[in-house]
Amino acid sequence: MSLQLLEKKGENRTSNQKTTNSLAYEEYEITANHLRERTKHRPRVAIICGSGLGGLANTLDEADVLEYESIPNFPVSTVFGHAGRLVFGLIGAVPVVCMQGRFHSYEGYPLWKITFPIRIFKLLGVDTLIVTNAAGGLNPSYAVGDIMLIKDHINFAGFAGVNPLCGVNDERWGPRFPPMSNAYDKKLRKIAKEVAEEQGYGDYFKEGVYAMVGGPNFETSAEARMLRAVGSDAVGMSTVSEVIVARHCGMHVLGMSLISNLVVQDEHSDETANHHEVLAIGLQRAKDLQNLVSGIVDKITA
Ligand code: HPA
Repeated sequence: MSLQLLEKKGENRTSNQKTTNSLAYEEYEITANHLRERTKHRPRVAIICGSGLGGLANTLDEADVLEYESIPNFPVSTVFGHAGRLVFGLIGAVPVVCMQGRFHSYEGYPLWKITFPIRIFKLLGVDTLIVTNAAGGLNPSYAVGDIMLIKDHINFAGFAGVNPLCGVNDERWGPRFPPMSNAYDKKLRKIAKEVAEEQGYGDYFKEGVYAMVGGPNFETSAEARMLRAVGSDAVGMSTVSEVIVARHCGMHVLGMSLISNLVVQDEHSDETANHHEVLAIGLQRAKDLQNLVSGIVDKITA
């Protein structure tokens, strides 16, 4: 079904008000029921696996795998390297659901569609969302391969009125004006730091602010300097919309970025990343990030 048709389906409940959060609550319930009938797992934790970070989903015990295409109302990932599967299973004794492949606005999806899975997780009983992504480093002390625990975000799209919560608000999900000052759960961040220390992560474990831009082009040097000047430590094209919707419906959120490149902030720079080095570090640290997430899941549900 085309995006236009999907959007039309939800066209709206009050006659003279146009909305961008299209599907009705009952449509989300149809999807959640579909999933309940296809897995015995009742996840408490949902994990969104960012670019190159989908390996975690392959390590789940007693996995039930569902292709996005097979799930009613679900978007389908169009980005190379994003698998497009929901994987239900166990990390230790903890039932989780992993998104192997996520959705981005640069693929042409409206934000309500990108964040559709979050509300499905809510209906399935998930109370904690762990988001991961690959991001460009802006903080001069960052190196490729660093793992950044997200302490806060800047929603640049939101400043322009592009927000997944735009449109009619259904109070069954959450309030019209949700606070966002405590988006990244303090307790979860503390646990993440403890696990990082236990697992021996040195100074490549950082904590910082994630800035979301729309993409798909990477930043100009001037844009990168602006992002840095307003307090961003890393920049990426995902995560923030999902976090906003998760917080809106009362989930606890933890976010982590793998720094996949350093963003050039000087037009005169001849610096180019060494791709072999980047890939090698990326692969190793992606595994580290997976171990970190597993360790965190063990602890938060203990
Ligand atoms: N900019 C924006 N998004 C990104 C980058 C970047 O440099 N790296 C990975 N995602």
